[in-house]
Amino acid sequence: MVRWIPASLPLHRRLETTAVLFYLMIVPMCMLFAFYSIIIPIFWGFTIPYLLWTFFYDTAWERGGRRNNWIRNHRTWRYFRDYFPISLVTSTKLDPAKNYIFGYHPHGIISMGAFCNFATNATGVDEKYPGITIHPLTLTSNFKIPFLRDVLMSFGISSVARNGCDNVLESGPGQSVMIVIGGAEESLDAHPGHNELLLKKRKGFVKLAFAHGASLVPIYSFGENDIFDQVDNPKGSWIRKCQTKVMKLTGIAPALFNGRGIFNYDFGLLPHRRKIVSVVGEPIDVPKVASPSDELIDHYQQLYMDSLSNLFHKYKDEYASESDDLKIH
Ligand SMILES: *[C@@H]1O[C@H](CO)[C@@H](O)[C@H](O)[C@H]1NC(C)=O
Repeated sequence: MVRWIPASLPLHRRLETTAVLFYLMIVPMCMLFAFYSIIIPIFWGFTIPYLLWTFFYDTAWERGGRRNNWIRNHRTWRYFRDYFPISLVTSTKLDPAKNYIFGYHPHGIISMGAFCNFATNATGVDEKYPGITIHPLTLTSNFKIPFLRDVLMSFGISSVARNGCDNVLESGPGQSVMIVIGGAEESLDAHPGHNELLLKKRKGFVKLAFAHGASLVPIYSFGENDIFDQVDNPKGSWIRKCQTKVMKLTGIAPALFNGRGIFNYDFGLLPHRRKIVSVVGEPIDVPKVASPSDELIDHYQQLYMDSLSNLFHKYKDEYASESDDLKIH
C-alpha cells in the first residue's frame, strides 16, 4: 500500500517540499541548460564566450567560489530547513584570527544537512561564527559542469582538490573550509539509525591542517543517515561487492536508496521529513609543521577521532533517533 499525501496540506508544508524539490533539480536543470545552450545555435553568441571564460580564465572554483549573500539568505533555504527540520548546535566561540578545517560526519546519501547549515545561512551560521567564512568543499568534477559551477560557487562552495584547500586557507584570517571527510564511499553505510564512519584511512585533512597551522573542528550530524532508506548491503554481501567495484571504476558510489515522492510517503527520490541536528565540537589546534612525521599525523588524527567520538556520546541521548553506537573504520 502506498500512503498518499492528504489533499489538504497547509501551504507551508507545500512550500517546504517545493524548496527541497528545487534543490534536487539544480543538477539536472544545469545539465539540461548546458545541453540546450550547446546544441542550439542561436545561443552560441552567449555559450561560446561563456565556455571559453570558464575553461581558460575563471579560477574562482579553486579559490573559495563567489559567495553571494542574497542567495545564501534566500527564503527558499528556510523552507528547506523547516522541511526536515535541520538545526545547527554550536557550543564554542571560534577565533576569527585563525583558519579552521571543519570535518562533517556522516556523509549520508547526499549531505543535505551540510548544505543547509554551511552553504546557506538558513540556520544562522554567519551569526554563530562572526568573522569566520566557511567554504564547503566538493569534488572538482562538479565544477566542470557549465552553470552548475556558478551555482555552487554562489554558495561559497569550492574545490576539495589540495590546491583549492590551500588557496582558501591562505586567503586571510577566518577563511575556513568544510570537508565531508568520509566522502561518497561513506554513503554506502548511510542507513537510518546507523552511525558508521570511514575515517581511519583519511589523513589528508590532518596533513592540510599541519601545512597551514589550521585548527580541526569535528561536526557530527545526527539524522543525516535517517532521511533516506537504503537497500541492505552489509560488507561482504554481493550487492556491496558490486557497489565497491562500480565505485573503483567510476568514482561514484552507487547507493540504492529510496525516500518518498512529491505525492506519496513511500516511494521516490525526495528525502523523508526527519530531523537533522548538526553538532559542532571544540576546535583542536594543530601546529604549523612543514613536513610532519607519520607518528605526528597519526597522533592528531587520533585526537580528532577521540574528540568526534566524545561529541557523539555527549549528544546522542538528546539528538539521535533509535540509533546504534558510533563505529569508526
Ligand atoms: C544570517 O541569518 C541571520 C538570521 O538567522 C541574520 O540575522 C543574519 O543577518 C544573516 N547573516 C548574514 C551575513 O546575512
